[in-house]
Amino acid sequence: MSAIKEPVVIHKGLDNVYVKESRICFIDGEASKLFYRGYSIEELAGHSTYEETAYLLIYGSLPTAQQLDKFTRSLESYRSLEPAVLELIRSLPSRSDPMDVLRTAVSALGSYDPRPMTDDMNVRIDKSLRILAKLPTIITTFDRLRNQKQPVLPRGLESQAAEFLYMLTGDEPDPGDVHALDVALILHAEHEMNASTFACTVTASTLADMYSIMTSGIGTLRGPLHGGANEAALRTVLEVGTPSKAENYVADALAQKKRIMGFGHRVYKTWDPRYLILKRYAGELAAKKGQTQLFDTAVAIENSARKHLEGTPIFPNVDSYSGIVFHLLGIPTDLFTPIFAMSRIAGWTAHVIEYLETNRLIRPKALYVGPVGLPYIPIDSRSGSAGE
Ligand code: ACO
Repeated sequence: MSAIKEPVVIHKGLDNVYVKESRICFIDGEASKLFYRGYSIEELAGHSTYEETAYLLIYGSLPTAQQLDKFTRSLESYRSLEPAVLELIRSLPSRSDPMDVLRTAVSALGSYDPRPMTDDMNVRIDKSLRILAKLPTIITTFDRLRNQKQPVLPRGLESQAAEFLYMLTGDEPDPGDVHALDVALILHAEHEMNASTFACTVTASTLADMYSIMTSGIGTLRGPLHGGANEAALRTVLEVGTPSKAENYVADALAQKKRIMGFGHRVYKTWDPRYLILKRYAGELAAKKGQTQLFDTAVAIENSARKHLEGTPIFPNVDSYSGIVFHLLGIPTDLFTPIFAMSRIAGWTAHVIEYLETNRLIRPKALYVGPVGLPYIPIDSRSGSAGE
């Protein structure tokens, strides 16, 4: 048995470990900048649509009108659910967490894709688009079923955002609401090598199929330190209730070493640029919907947190206002993380395709610090052990 001779550096959390070169996303965490394929997030949020941004991320350049039309039509053609997948969703307990439903349904979609597993990149992308297009349908179908309502079938609306709001309520969506959701989808579509993208990349590196890859991403996004933070941030705002209670809440939480949800980021050491855009939309929606107290409470929490955390690199992140936007759009709180997945699948796909171009199986190491050479003890002779 050879002992480890060289000093070993353990990169817990893989901070600052690069796993590939990439042309997809650039984050300048010191300067509050985010670019997708070279375009700033402000440019894209101001001028693009989620469909166009997804195309840009996956194919590498902005589409022509013809390419975008073909892409959008292809998504429309995929949006309905196979009857068996609908039945599967129907069979799940109505108390299920929607992320469980999403994970289960996406996994099942693989069984209903007649095309075999392949390394052909175009087919891989197309399988991913099939999932991307169906995510709004899965989420809204489950939400309606658990509320004893019939699912609303997709009706060929041109955007994920419009189709999502329509299938959620069955009503004609308000164009302003569609636009706000569309912008939120653009802002969540990609963010370099975050935990869920890395999970997808690890699974892809084994040459697994796209359904397994996306299921890995969904499972990883679910945690409260990643995708789940938007729900937690909104719950905090609702719990605090009024601006006047914000200061006490923040002071108490920090005194108890609790984290303020929607604050802090592994990469941004200043404002998350997505936060600024979403804050504006949250303010506008709150005024339009007559729910300014909610927005004012979020702002009061933000102001108190920034005062208490002054001098630290802990600033508001995308989740500080995304939950407010979704809530004001009438979206149930436990659908926020599924919406995040519905958007981020574009980034997951882009990174997986890029990684597979020069694939190398991801296989890090763990430094073993336990004993070796222990004698086997027959079960009758063992006394108490760790599993008791
Ligand atoms: N509130 C209060 N203190 C915080 C917060 C916060 N939100 N975030 C970090 N800190 C403190 C930690 O307590 C720690 O303090 P200590 O050194 O005294 O123990 C210090 O900052 C460093 O914390 P780490 O967890 O090591 O920092 P990391 O860079 O790993 O944090 C993370 C990133 C996990 C996102 C963290 O900021 C956090 O938990 N935030 C709240 C959850 C959240 O909003 N997540 C969404 C992230 S964005 C996204 O995934 C879309």
